[in-house]
Amino acid sequence: MKNLILAVVLFVVAFAPPLVVKADELKEKLSAGKRLFETTCNQCHPLADPLSNELSREMWVDRVQEMIGGTGALTPEQENLVVDYLTVNSTYKANCRGCHGLQEVEVVRHDRKGWVEVVKEEVAKKPGLLSIIDMKKVAEFLFINYGK
Ligand code: HEC
Ligand code: HEC
Repeated sequence: MKNLILAVVLFVVAFAPPLVVKADELKEKLSAGKRLFETTCNQCHPLADPLSNELSREMWVDRVQEMIGGTGALTPEQENLVVDYLTVNSTYKANCRGCHGLQEVEVVRHDRKGWVEVVKEEVAKKPGLLSIIDMKKVAEFLFINYGK
């Protein structure tokens, strides 16, 4: 039994650091995607135009190519960050309205922990609404945009 507990403790210790890194990585990637999106996609139309589109990741890949492909405006890696950011925006919009409007969400301000809690509570109202990874992404998206 002791050995089993030790094994579990070692397992947790061994795997805890990568999980922490993952959360930071997600934050940095989404923040970078937002910055790149806001500086690259505002030149011909308001940012609200792309933001109001709810598309799948594949469709965002195509859309970003249509818009800036071949112009050298972004590296492929930067394009990916923009696509990821816009995909999370779409996930949020598609799943967080229906019971109430998005404006009801967007007047609220929370710190990161607060948004993680809100997303958990909201998904509990409709189990299966978002996968665990989408819950993390949406919470981070909300913190980046409506944080305090
Ligand atoms: C060089 C100018 C230019 C840049 C830069 C640009 N766009 Fe566009 N975009 C347009 C034009 C012109 C339209 C309108 C054509 C149309 O109706 O589809 C448009 C339309 C769109 C639409 C459809 C809008 C709607 O209301 O349905 C999306 C989505 C979009 N752009 C996303 C982006 C994204 C994301 C970026 C940054 C990666 C970007 N655009 C950068 C020129 C640009
Ligand atoms: C199954 C229905 C349902 C879904 C789906 C839903 N909500 Fe809600 N939400 C509610 C209800 C009910 C309330 C409380 C009554 C109200 O404000 O309309 C609420 C309230 C809120 C509030 C205000 C809470 C406060 O304390 O000020 C926020 C923020 C919120 N929701 C965010 C979200 C987000 C983010 C999502 C998507 C992950 C989401 N909701 C999806 C039902 C839902």
